[in-house]
Amino acid sequence: MEEQTTIDYRLLVDNLTTAILLADKNLNIFYLNSSCEALFDVSLLRASGQSVLNILQSPDDSFDTYEALTNTLTTGQTYTRREALISVNFKDMHVDYSVVRLNTGKEYHPLLLIELNPIDRMLKISKEENLIQQHQVARQLIRGVAHEIKNPLGGIRGATQLLARSLNDPQYNEFTDIIISEVDRLRNLADTMLGSRQLPSYEWVNIHEPLERVRSLIANQTKKKIKITRDYDLSLPSVKADRDQLIQVMLNICANAVQAMTENKDYFIEQQPELLLKTRVQRLITINGVLHRSVIRIDIQDNGPGVPEDIIESVFYPLVTGRAKGTGLGLSIAQNIMHQHNGMIECQSIPGKTVFSLYLPWELNHDAK
Ligand SMILES: Nc1ncnc2c1ncn2[C@@H]1O[C@H](COP(=O)(O)OP(=O)(O)OP(=O)(O)O)[C@@H](O)[C@H]1O
Ligand SMILES: [Mg+2]
Repeated sequence: MEEQTTIDYRLLVDNLTTAILLADKNLNIFYLNSSCEALFDVSLLRASGQSVLNILQSPDDSFDTYEALTNTLTTGQTYTRREALISVNFKDMHVDYSVVRLNTGKEYHPLLLIELNPIDRMLKISKEENLIQQHQVARQLIRGVAHEIKNPLGGIRGATQLLARSLNDPQYNEFTDIIISEVDRLRNLADTMLGSRQLPSYEWVNIHEPLERVRSLIANQTKKKIKITRDYDLSLPSVKADRDQLIQVMLNICANAVQAMTENKDYFIEQQPELLLKTRVQRLITINGVLHRSVIRIDIQDNGPGVPEDIIESVFYPLVTGRAKGTGLGLSIAQNIMHQHNGMIECQSIPGKTVFSLYLPWELNHDAK
């Protein structure tokens, strides 16, 4: 006769990739499987006894979780919520979850079985794709506008020069000079809006080399008023990239950080402005719909006041600026260059910690667009 294998069901449940949570009839946590511990980043020991409502009921949510859970307990009716915002250890995440009543055989001791599926990664991917598409549309629009602005400028400049020569009274030359210098300013702006016309020229680059160039430029410019810290992973491989364009990307982002730190001096009362340049390997990341097993990540971090809240979502769009003298083109140009390298830039910012992360794939990135 065939030998019967006995299964330890606890072992089975702990090896599931689905996060599972059990709550008792008072809605207190009773058990979490290993996947749930990993998802919440909390041990069973710490979580048990806590009310499940602390996790499942978000304060801004009009859905009454208490009502729904007690309804399942009393009626046995299961329910599922999609894209619910839950909060564990002050960390918000989006999950799909379903709730089932477990009949333990003892009438007064039913349990609730809650199965959770995190969807943040999915939300993030679609957000990134949207961002890249919107960004490309905005860039085309801006190039179109820049072109139209630039066209008549040559004519205006030429005509003004002719006019200046035909004027007998030199006091009017002041006005023609103003027209010419303003036309030149507008032409420079339109050139920046159009972006580089040169095709990128790819070569093997160790990203620490352009990064060090930018560091010494910034150090000279700020004359030690800003502390610059380096944290490099020197084992990173070289990438096929346009070295000058990478310098432009790093410089634009570092310049923003320096401006944020030096133009808001009141912010630094007790601490020194600090710029951190960090390089690392980033595993498993999706960029514009392509999953990369590992890419280079360059973090440019400052301890300034942070990106103003009202522009944080649109900070990579052209003409979005939080500075009186800014044109709002620096980040848009930088993001565009990174897209050409099949990479991207992400930003996370709170007062005291703003990080711009550049992601640069090293596999096959030379067939860049
Ligand atoms: N490190 C940072 N800290 C705080 N705010 C930032 C930081 N980086 C960018 N920003 C905000 O994002 C805005 C957009 O930056 P972006 O480089 O695109 O344009 P700009 O710096 O205003 O102008 P430009 O770079 O064209 O001269 C900035 O005006 C600033 O408000
Ligand atoms: Mg800028």
